[in-house]
Amino acid sequence: MKIKLGLIFGGMSTENEVSVMSANSILKNLDKNKYEIFPIYISKNGKWYQYDNLENIEINKNMDHMNEIENIIKYLQTLDVLFPVLHGLYGEDGTIQGLFEILKKPYVGCGVLASSVGMDKAYTKVIFDKANICQAPYIYLKKYKDQYTYIDKEFNEKRVSLEEAADIVEKEIDFPVFIKPANSGSSVGINKAKNKEDLKEYIEYAGKFDKKILIEKGIIGQEVECAVLGNDDVIASGVGEIKPADEFYSYDAKYQNEDSKTLIPANLDEKVSNEIRKLAIKAFKAIDGKGLSRVDFFVEDKTNQIYINEINTLPGFTKISMYPKLFEAEGIQYNELLDNLIKLAQE
Ligand SMILES: Nc1ncnc2c1ncn2[C@@H]1O[C@H](COP(=O)(O)OP(=O)(O)O)[C@@H](O)[C@H]1O
Ligand SMILES: [Mg+2]
Repeated sequence: MKIKLGLIFGGMSTENEVSVMSANSILKNLDKNKYEIFPIYISKNGKWYQYDNLENIEINKNMDHMNEIENIIKYLQTLDVLFPVLHGLYGEDGTIQGLFEILKKPYVGCGVLASSVGMDKAYTKVIFDKANICQAPYIYLKKYKDQYTYIDKEFNEKRVSLEEAADIVEKEIDFPVFIKPANSGSSVGINKAKNKEDLKEYIEYAGKFDKKILIEKGIIGQEVECAVLGNDDVIASGVGEIKPADEFYSYDAKYQNEDSKTLIPANLDEKVSNEIRKLAIKAFKAIDGKGLSRVDFFVEDKTNQIYINEINTLPGFTKISMYPKLFEAEGIQYNELLDNLIKLAQE
């Protein structure tokens, strides 16, 4: 009997298009002898669609073969395993995982808690601090009407103006700094500021994407990534490196600029690579991860210090994405990786 696999993609986040690219690769590479595949597209405005023709579908380009699903719960209940290929809000943040839990359906990847902790950069920081994993110094702000709330490390709150918020940043961390909406993905809403004027502008800009804003010390060094796989017995891939075409790995550098390069393995000493692999598993376990994650780090040029940047519980999954490429370098082919993830979901 084939496994009825619901491949859910698109989604209501800013990463809808990225998700469609990932889903197309997955669809192409899943073993059709093992799986009966049910692609499900979620539009940006939250409508769910099924496909009536599975031959050569180019997801998202051919609305002809899409029919809106009237009863999502009933539809999902007919499937055996669900594979959310969704990035960002309402897909990678625990909300859809909550729906799957209620339906008692096995699904690929992290559960509710790990997904939401991994999505919210402010709360990822709290867990990584607790796990004693080194990360860039940061300031946490919340937008409050026309002002801001500064939240210290013990969650004490203080109301501040934009100017005062910038003063706090200037006092606590050195430029350059990165300003991020807590719920960003694909670098949307993220900027690098080299002075106070830019800082203020970018805080306001980040506030358009999320009420919660993080400001972090910019780490000057290599940007590296490590993939992890497993539920209880977790393995880590080797380490890969990003060479962004831009000043940092912006949306454009990630998806549009072909001058961005990835390097496998990363240009690092073996000792540093091994440390990163250990930290990747540690970080994954610290957020209670399951299935898969890609854990991103910086290695500072001057000191060789490793800083964790973030954990992505549903990393990009096209054939040329870092996650599958890192495992391919370990001898686990793309289709085998998909089989593994589906097996882990069923466990
Ligand atoms: N503290 C930092 N120091 C140096 N570069 C950073 C820092 N934070 C983010 N960046 C750069 O910005 C990019 C996007 O930030 P990231 O936190 O990874 O957000 P996203 O979740 O959107 O990928 C990173 O890939 C990196 O190039
Ligand atoms: Mg990132």
